[in-house]
Amino acid sequence: MRKKIVAGNWKMNMKLNDGLTLAEDINSHFITNPLNGRKVILCTPFIHLSLVSKLLTAEGLSSGAQNCNDHSSGAFTGEVSAAMIKSTGAGSVIIGHSERRTYYGETDGLLAAKTAEALRNGLMVIFCCGEVLAEREGKIHFEVVRRQLENGLFVLSPEDFSKCIIAYEPVWAIGTGVTASPAQAQEMHAFIRNLVREKYGTGMADETTILYGGSCKASNAAELFANPDVDGGLIGGASLLKEEFCNIVKAL
Ligand code: 13P
Repeated sequence: MRKKIVAGNWKMNMKLNDGLTLAEDINSHFITNPLNGRKVILCTPFIHLSLVSKLLTAEGLSSGAQNCNDHSSGAFTGEVSAAMIKSTGAGSVIIGHSERRTYYGETDGLLAAKTAEALRNGLMVIFCCGEVLAEREGKIHFEVVRRQLENGLFVLSPEDFSKCIIAYEPVWAIGTGVTASPAQAQEMHAFIRNLVREKYGTGMADETTILYGGSCKASNAAELFANPDVDGGLIGGASLLKEEFCNIVKAL
């Protein structure tokens, strides 16, 4: 069964105590309001991860990281390995977020290596793809997403691929307040699912969770999630606000 997931990406926000308070509030909410099979993942900065992982006790609620290094260990000052992330109790990691591709020059090849390293260490991968505005306006958005997935993700064996979920995040919608329309989201998600079908077969395509990200909030989540190929969301700004975030989950 395809999983229904809302993941919050806190990005570089929240001092330690503020993050712990937010995680505690969200945990209490989902103890009182059970997730009933849906999954919620809080992707926190590294410094929160160990403490947040320990305080999340609600069924279906877990923690994740926002990045990992492609090496297993060693002299990589300032970096964090997948094994270290796993040792905190976190269950997943975001790979290939557009901010990492843009600001840190992360290439498809590097992202493939990071994905392999995360999977080797038992983490679920939330693999991001999405086009910038000029690419959509130039009508090459499908090609861009196809290339990102083929080079970064479709190099995996079927078994490894089954431990990944895909997040479609059009870069022009991230943090801009401009959300993709439900039709735009559905069109791209159906395209992505078809790529999975071509590569891994119909069974895998039906099982693959595809999240939408980009200015998703409580007021537009329901219409986005109502689409047959949109299985949840990857939430940035709205994941920092307890009520807003929990209402997005409610819309799922
Ligand atoms: P916003 O929800 O702030 O647009 O960010 C989306 C995002 O980048 C999640 O990874």
